[in-house]
Amino acid sequence: MYDHDVLIIGAGLAGMRAALAATEAGVNVAVVSKVHPVRSHSNAAQGGINAALTDRGDDWRDHAYDTIKGSDFLGDQDAIEIMCREAGDEVIAMEHMGAIFNRDEEGRLGTRNFGGQRQARTFFVADFTGQALLHVLYEQIVKAGALVYEEWFVLSLIERDGECGGVVMMDIRTGKIEVVRAKAVIMAAGGLGRVFEPSTNAMICTGDGMSLAYKAGASLMDMEMVQYHPTTLKGSGVLISEAARGEGAYLLNSENDRFMLKYAPEFKELASRDVVSRCEQTEINEGRGIDGCVLLDVRHLGEKYISERLSQIRELAMDFANVDMAKEPVPIMPGMHYQMGGVKANVDGETGVPGLYAAGEVACVSVHGGNRLGANSLLDTLVFGRRSGVHAAERAKNTSHLSIDDSAAKPDRENIERLLLNDKNESFGKIRFDMGTAMKEHFGVFRENSSMAEGISKLSLIKERAQSVYVADKTNTFNTNLLFTLELGFMIECAETIASSAFDRTESRGAHTRTDMPDRDDENWLKHIVVSDKDGKPNISYQDVVITDWTPTVRQY
Ligand code: FUM
Repeated sequence: MYDHDVLIIGAGLAGMRAALAATEAGVNVAVVSKVHPVRSHSNAAQGGINAALTDRGDDWRDHAYDTIKGSDFLGDQDAIEIMCREAGDEVIAMEHMGAIFNRDEEGRLGTRNFGGQRQARTFFVADFTGQALLHVLYEQIVKAGALVYEEWFVLSLIERDGECGGVVMMDIRTGKIEVVRAKAVIMAAGGLGRVFEPSTNAMICTGDGMSLAYKAGASLMDMEMVQYHPTTLKGSGVLISEAARGEGAYLLNSENDRFMLKYAPEFKELASRDVVSRCEQTEINEGRGIDGCVLLDVRHLGEKYISERLSQIRELAMDFANVDMAKEPVPIMPGMHYQMGGVKANVDGETGVPGLYAAGEVACVSVHGGNRLGANSLLDTLVFGRRSGVHAAERAKNTSHLSIDDSAAKPDRENIERLLLNDKNESFGKIRFDMGTAMKEHFGVFRENSSMAEGISKLSLIKERAQSVYVADKTNTFNTNLLFTLELGFMIECAETIASSAFDRTESRGAHTRTDMPDRDDENWLKHIVVSDKDGKPNISYQDVVITDWTPTVRQY
């Protein structure tokens, strides 16, 4: 058994920012991650990080309003104010830690345009901003002395009388199961993208954190709000950064028509993501697509500019679609990219379960509402990662470990034994794929009552089939067969909460677009859907949206 003051689950940007803040506050900190920290999914964030710097003539209030409008007025305005007010300091702090942001012609930090924003306020490192920040933060936490449990898999949170006091986790290398006590646990395990197929997300994004917290008594909020990114590569669904459109790319249909001029005359290709994805899908559905895609055209930017600013996506398009974007348009489609919802948390990461915090994509502090603005995700991870780290450290200084011993691991040991002894014949891969394609079909860009009902029925069959997964590998060393089976359980739980929340919201708002109920209904639905676990089933309640200065209006781009 191990003891730490603060234990952080997940070593992406939120987790490592929390680790740095907590270590600097003088407590004993450990981070547990199922992959090496620099392989975390924050690595894949390409386009940049938003901040309104006053010396650029920008104002955090304008950033806040763009974020609120982007959220289709579902984001909590008090939380958004904090995120936008603290953004500048966070970006400068990363620069001082060593992030080599692109510069403008005068040598100052450079910005590019991003969707749904009236100002160019996205700071960037070419088209691999997340990767750059991730490496810098990893250096920082190593320097600060935080311990990292690399390639350990968290099996459950330990809860006693409604309080969280640690975790049970497995060393992937050896199969050894350990109990870890912590005075505060910060869930920063990232998103659930792979609940959908395809997705821009890494294979590791399986909703572990949301499911673990939900099981330990935390609530999930806004789970129906699933972001489809407008530009994902044909076939594989690999992300082609919004930076391309930020730099001036056009979207074209099969008639060579720049169709966004018609749908969003002011913002065009840089309308908010939900809007652009719907427009693309409409073009495709109405027969003006090309093989299920539309085209992204950057040729007019010139090869030199593309190589300097968009080198990674150029390479990705060559490798995965055999297209050189400097020479021809790239076939792209809307693809699942981000979960706006997550573990309900306040601006200090508190989840309502004492001792359990949440930050980053796994959390729903309610800064994204119905639709997240591109480049607000990295910002969310850093601002709320840091705040959670500070708050958790404070708690750790003022509390003692719960009385927990090695027997806390018994249920997980028994569960693994049961999985290894199962002699049925379902394959986790087949179930995972069937779930992902069902989620895309029934809870994708467009939704409708009877289709969602069908999706819910498919999910209950999938849940039943998951009881019969056969784990072929019976060994202890890197048993990925067992891990994928455990992840499947997390994913199904997340899928159920998405489906039940989506079915419940009888309006269209942000990314939740119902063809049978196309209008936003502020009178009845200016509220969050909150889901908690009741005897193994999602139980729904509601919470009002916090409005401060900005009254909801009709959203136009
Ligand atoms: O398109 C992108 O570069 C993605 C950025 C984001 O999701 O924030």
